[in-house]
Amino acid sequence: MASPTSSPVLVLFVLLQMVLSTVELKPTMTAQTFRHLVGCRKDHTAEGVSELKQFVDKLGYLNHDGAKDDKFDEDLESGIKAYQVNYQLNVTGSLDDDTLKQMMKPRCGIADLRLNGDKNSKSVYRFEAARYEFFLGNLKWPISKTHLTYNFRSSVEVPLDEDIRSICFRSFERWADVSRFTFEEVSDDYIADIEIGFHSGDHGDGNPFDGPQGTLAHASPPTGGKLHYDADENWSTNPGPDEIDLESVTVHEIGHLLGLQHSMIPDAVMYAYFDSGVTKRRLNRDDVHGIRALYGLL
Ligand SMILES: *[C@@H]1O[C@H](CO)[C@@H](O)[C@H](O)[C@H]1NC(C)=O
Ligand SMILES: *[C@@H]1O[C@H](CO)[C@@H](O)[C@H](O)[C@H]1NC(C)=O
Ligand SMILES: [Zn+2]
Ligand SMILES: [Zn+2]
Repeated sequence: MASPTSSPVLVLFVLLQMVLSTVELKPTMTAQTFRHLVGCRKDHTAEGVSELKQFVDKLGYLNHDGAKDDKFDEDLESGIKAYQVNYQLNVTGSLDDDTLKQMMKPRCGIADLRLNGDKNSKSVYRFEAARYEFFLGNLKWPISKTHLTYNFRSSVEVPLDEDIRSICFRSFERWADVSRFTFEEVSDDYIADIEIGFHSGDHGDGNPFDGPQGTLAHASPPTGGKLHYDADENWSTNPGPDEIDLESVTVHEIGHLLGLQHSMIPDAVMYAYFDSGVTKRRLNRDDVHGIRALYGLL
């Protein structure tokens, strides 16, 4: 039997455990997180709308400065509409089933096109984005910089560590074939133009990975030169139904390193979403047009 003094201690201990576990638990947003918001629309208030705002913001469709409360406001509606236009869904402005399903697919961690900065303008999104895009400001490598070096630095060991070198070699060659760039792997002793690696969770660049599924990888626009893979995915060189093709994602992320943003053409390598078990390693016409337009080769 518990003594009268032990139970407060026990309660305190249990409370402490709860606090610690909520702190440690990084909630991965899954379809389940937002399931109860299906049908929620403008002017509704519901628990979880603030998380939905965070999520839509992360995808690049909300203004950071917007209200962070649980009200489904006009900004959220317009963000969801823009997303629905981009991904060729019915433009309902509400979180319907198809929209939720699309949003929850595994994807690149780089946000799609952001606001153009004019907060007073109503049509802040570029709805015609049915092709390649550049980053705001058309970020690119200087004209004299055509030879880019790369090397590898991971904070997490992944079984594919050996394959990654040949995969990157092939992926860089695909872009070299259609641009003026050449690429060369250099030893880890050098500071390369591009650093490639596997990381898990918070890895020090302000863009923590989210564990299995959701975000798969991200890369910085020119001239940042960082390509990070989420180590918690089922990466593969020959993907089965629950695995992600490392080479397809690599070709995509190199597009970001060179200055391309997401394309809304599903067949383009620069499309943001990746299905498990599917490979898409060859550049599409849209990708080729994009890189050539950015560097004036058209
Ligand atoms: C869009 O809405 C129409 C009419 O409600 C419906 O018939 C159609 O199946 C919807 N399309 C998609 C892709 O959801
Ligand atoms: C990884 O693969 C296993 C078994 O094939 C599967 O159960 C799991 O859901 C997969 N994980 C992800 C993140 O897809
Ligand atoms: Zn991307
Ligand atoms: Zn990173």
